[in-house]
Amino acid sequence: MDRPYVILSAAMTLDGKIASKTGDSRISSEADLQRVHLLRSEVDAIIVGIETVIKDDPLLTVRLTQGKNPLRVVIDSKARIPLSSNLVKSANSGPIVIAISSAASKTRSRNLTSLGCKIIRCGTSGKVDLSMMLSDLKDMGIKKILLEGGGILNAAMLNGGLVDEVIVAVAPVIIGGDRSTTLVEGKGVDKIKNGIRLELKETRNIGSDIVLSYGVVKKS
Ligand SMILES: NC(=O)c1ccc[n+]([C@@H]2O[C@H](COP(=O)([O-])OP(=O)(O)OC[C@H]3O[C@@H](n4cnc5c(N)ncnc54)[C@H](OP(=O)(O)O)[C@@H]3O)[C@@H](O)[C@H]2O)c1
Repeated sequence: MDRPYVILSAAMTLDGKIASKTGDSRISSEADLQRVHLLRSEVDAIIVGIETVIKDDPLLTVRLTQGKNPLRVVIDSKARIPLSSNLVKSANSGPIVIAISSAASKTRSRNLTSLGCKIIRCGTSGKVDLSMMLSDLKDMGIKKILLEGGGILNAAMLNGGLVDEVIVAVAPVIIGGDRSTTLVEGKGVDKIKNGIRLELKETRNIGSDIVLSYGVVKKS
C-alpha cells in the first residue's frame, strides 16, 4: 500500500451521533475509553479534524493505559488551531503535526513552528489534500493511523477511499437532533447501493457499550 493503514475510530450513540448539538462528545463508558487508549498506543499516529480540536481541546495522548504516545496530526487547512490549545501547549513534550494547505497564512504557520509544531503543506486547493497528507506521513515512517474524527473529516477520508477499518463503540443512548454531529457528515449518497460497504469482523461487549469492528470492502 502506498499510504499508511487507516483505522476510523469513534464512539457514537445508537442513533449515529458522535456529539450532541452543544458539542458534548462524552459518549464512551470508562471501560471503553481504556480500550481506545490501548488502541492509541498501538498506532503510529492519530489524525483529527480542526473542528474537533476547537470543540473538544483534546490532548490525544495515551493516559488510561501504559504505552507510547503516537504522533498527533491535525487537519487544518488555514492553520486555525488555537495557540492556547492543549495540543499546541504540549508540542514540546510530544510531537504535533499540523497539515495545512496553501489557504494558511505564512505568519500563522511560522507562529506554530516557533511553538514546536511541525507544519506539512498538503495541496494548493482550499482544503488539505488528504492523499498527499497520508503520503507525507508515510515518508515520515508512519505505518498505522487512528482517524479520530470528526464527522466531516471521516466523510472526506471514507469518500476518498482512505480508510481500511472502522471501529465504532455504540453507547446505549439516543440523543436526536439534526444539529448533532453524525459519524459521517458530507453530502451522502443517493442510493443505499452506492454506500461504502463494510464487512463485520468482530463484536465485543465493553462496559455498557457494544464495540463493532469492520473492514472496508475495497471497490474493484
Ligand atoms: N464521539 C467521537 O468519537 C468523536 C470523535 C471526534 C470528534 N467528535 C465530535 O465531532 C465534532 C467535530 O466534528 P466536525 O465534523 O464538526 O469537524 P471535524 O471533522 O473535526 O473537522 C472538519 C474540518 O477539517 C478541515 N479540513 C481540512 N481539510 C479537509 C478535507 N480535505 N476534508 C474535510 N475536512 C478538512 C476543515 O476545516 P478547514 O477548512 O478550516 O481546514 C473542516 O471543516 C465535535 O463536536 C467533536 O466533539 C466526536
